[in-house]
Amino acid sequence: MRKPFDLEADYQPKDFAFTPKYKKKTAEIIANYPKGRQQSAVMGLLDLAQRQVGDEGAKADKPYGGWIPKAAMDHIAEVLSMPPMKVYEVATFYSMYNLAPVGKYLVQICGTSPCWLCGAAKIKKVCEDHLGIKLLETTEDGLFTLMEVECLGACVNAPMVQINDDYYEDLNEEIMIKMLDQLKAGKKITVGSQTGRKTSMAASGPTSLMEEAKKAKVI
Ligand code: FES
Repeated sequence: MRKPFDLEADYQPKDFAFTPKYKKKTAEIIANYPKGRQQSAVMGLLDLAQRQVGDEGAKADKPYGGWIPKAAMDHIAEVLSMPPMKVYEVATFYSMYNLAPVGKYLVQICGTSPCWLCGAAKIKKVCEDHLGIKLLETTEDGLFTLMEVECLGACVNAPMVQINDDYYEDLNEEIMIKMLDQLKAGKKITVGSQTGRKTSMAASGPTSLMEEAKKAKVI
């Protein structure tokens, strides 16, 4: 799904600078790379910029989630002595970077074959109906943005969604509505399988390596 990317949009802030907390982290990331290869830190710095904006958004009267303004990409280009276009190229390639404002909770619905076969279309529909928005839209209260993404690598526990940094698996329509309501009410929701399945074992429980499973206390 193509994400919005508009460098001239009204929502773009004029300036961006890392706060002291994040500036320290940028230095740590840059220090991971050999001298002369600091530009390799671009992905880490983009992630930090997104997280800083998300931290600010969590405290705002009308909340919003993490995204990367053009001013942040330009600032990163300056910090890493690279052309801004190269930073835009990286930021637009990877789907984990949001290049336009998003809600406090970014609900990324996996729509690839295994999730689709297990009911992803129903999950998408129930999210749209319950929140009153379509994909790539944000609710009026700034809390939720919906997005469809390709396989997130948790196919065994399909269907699943990613909300901000965490995965929520083994979903059905009722569970999805309950999760959205709990988030709206400011409650924490259990990360991972919503049916209590441990890791990626068969839905009916482990069928092999039983002794090992007992030792690991998953049965
Ligand atoms: S297909 Fe959905 S996680 Fe892989």
